[in-house]
Amino acid sequence: MAQTQRARRSLASRFDEELRFFKGWIDKPKAVGAIIPTSAITARRMASVIDVSSRLPVLELGAGTGVITKAILATGLKPSNLYAVEYSEEFVTHLRETYPTVNVIRGDAFDLDETLSDAPALTFDSVISAVPLLSFPVEQRIAYVEDLLTRIPAGRPVVQITYGPRSPVPPLRGNYSVEHFDFVLRNIPPAQLWVYRRGRPS
Ligand SMILES: C[S@@+](CC[C@H](N)C(=O)[O-])C[C@H]1O[C@@H](n2cnc3c(N)ncnc32)[C@H](O)[C@@H]1O
Repeated sequence: MAQTQRARRSLASRFDEELRFFKGWIDKPKAVGAIIPTSAITARRMASVIDVSSRLPVLELGAGTGVITKAILATGLKPSNLYAVEYSEEFVTHLRETYPTVNVIRGDAFDLDETLSDAPALTFDSVISAVPLLSFPVEQRIAYVEDLLTRIPAGRPVVQITYGPRSPVPPLRGNYSVEHFDFVLRNIPPAQLWVYRRGRPS
């Protein structure tokens, strides 16, 4: 009985997330990118790159409905050690209500000097990005990854979700390596995960 109720609650919450996502998509299709929120499996896979023992904060970009935020917190990272950046005001309100002790910042992931101006000079353990890079020109995507890599130690990863067959940030165009991390079929649409690093993996 309790199990049925839990299943119903989980279904209702998923439906609620999808509705919220769909509304965001109607308002700003280019910025939101995908059609349905990231699956919990994909979110867990992305969060698996985090090294909680580093005690460094983690940067999440394009937090949206908070599916990946939830998976990041499930790694044991303290909520106060998570900086979640999101552009859409509606998603930001929802994220702040759901995760009151996470540092939810409304701002542009492509302009982190401005967006993180209240927490300058932070070094993060890793970056988890769901910003829909394919909606932006390739030069802007390269600059994005190069900027993110200045904010984490050498060898640590920036993980990026995308839906195309190739890395949204092409190899050999800057000071970073490109690694195919996973292909997750149980995501709508199926998701590709890419990792970018500077220096040897650590
Ligand atoms: C594909 S959705 C993923 C959302 C969320 N991670 C999820 O799975 O539900 C992309 C998210 O990135 C946000 N976004 C797009 N451009 C952005 C930007 N320049 N800065 C910050 N967030 C951005 C969108 O508002 C949207 O919430």
